[in-house]
Amino acid sequence: MTTQDFIAAADLSPLESAGLADFDALWQLELAAVEHPNTGRGKGWSSVCRLDLPERSYFLKRQCNHLTRSLTHPFGEPTLAREFRNIRRYAERQVPAIGAAFFGMRKAARERRAILLTPALLGWRDMSGWLAGWPECPPERRGELIDACGLLARRLHAARLAHGCFYPRHIFVRARERGFTACLIDLEKSRPLHFRRERVRDVEQFLRYAPQFSEAEIDRFLALYLEAPANAPEIGHWRQWLARRQRKKQGASPVDVGRQDGDDQHQHPGQIKPEQENG
Ligand SMILES: Nc1ncnc2c1ncn2[C@@H]1O[C@H](COP(=O)(O)OP(=O)(O)O)[C@@H](O)[C@H]1O
Ligand SMILES: [Mg+2]
Repeated sequence: MTTQDFIAAADLSPLESAGLADFDALWQLELAAVEHPNTGRGKGWSSVCRLDLPERSYFLKRQCNHLTRSLTHPFGEPTLAREFRNIRRYAERQVPAIGAAFFGMRKAARERRAILLTPALLGWRDMSGWLAGWPECPPERRGELIDACGLLARRLHAARLAHGCFYPRHIFVRARERGFTACLIDLEKSRPLHFRRERVRDVEQFLRYAPQFSEAEIDRFLALYLEAPANAPEIGHWRQWLARRQRKKQGASPVDVGRQDGDDQHQHPGQIKPEQENG
């Protein structure tokens, strides 16, 4: 079975000029993977490569039998199909995120293949890159980066979306005339947001992988996120919920942690200290 491929209007000509405006051509491309291909789901694989064409640069995600099951897809669907749906959902709800240049799926004999091509975020840098040089980063710039992340988290959750993988390396930032602007990548785990615990989960993930933040910087992030004054009681409440969530994660076995967070094993989690443990 073949579903209709998607090609964004702006990407048709760059892809056609390179002879890459179709599924099979993209599938057969030999490129170096940017990270180890993901094979952690027991079967199938998923890989990410960079594709530089004369007119534009892209990231090419390809999957084979890399499926997630859900009520609407009891036999599973490629996780890239989810990510593509989410890319459109983020755009509809005006949450800053990557776009899609090409999406397609094929069923071969025993294989379910999927391709998602996204325009490379040129001139952007991910937050884990900034965090690696955090001590050398001037305090004013640090504040601006935190504000951009806080605002992004606020917009995400105000649009009733939980990212589900809200790590610094999935948040890309770019300098503006004043301050920074931020956007999201890797939307495959995004889901509709219903409850506060889903908000806490995203925020806790972000802060856990930003152990470089000082206490004052965590407060600044929360104040921006909550659109609250610097010492609003809400910030204290959030600190307690975050600390509770973190204790729960620390209590989980490594297997459980891996299952919940998927691909975050090679980053170094930090601590979130609650202002008050009780009350
Ligand atoms: N459109 C893009 N622009 C810039 N970097 C990207 C883009 N897409 C992917 N990357 C880079 O490739 C890495 C892996 O992509 P990601 O979407 O997170 O795949 P996975 O689902 O395998 O984690 C990202 O952490 C990021 O560094
Ligand atoms: Mg990722």
